[in-house]
Amino acid sequence: MAKITFITTNDENITVEGDSGSVMELAVQNNIAGIDGDCGGVCSCATCHVHVDPEFVSQTGEASEIEKDMLELDDNANEFSRLCCQLDVSDELDGVILRVAQ
Ligand code: FES
Repeated sequence: MAKITFITTNDENITVEGDSGSVMELAVQNNIAGIDGDCGGVCSCATCHVHVDPEFVSQTGEASEIEKDMLELDDNANEFSRLCCQLDVSDELDGVILRVAQ
């Protein structure tokens, strides 16, 4: 079980819990504003873009090459960017804070 906190673009903090699936799916199930998951999680839309709070980067790990390629197309991407459909919900992610990208 992992508790994951999203900070929306309106600075709303929403903590949700999950134990399987992707972080994008968890966000969509919980109606997190700004996470749409348009491509269904195949890393081809970037509507699940989040910035990992720097404190938690060691828990989320780095973006894959295919993810980085997608993020290069997004003007709001930075070194903390991840496409959260590529993050699996697991105990390792417990406590992480993700800021929804603009
Ligand atoms: S849901 Fe499309 S890239 Fe993540």
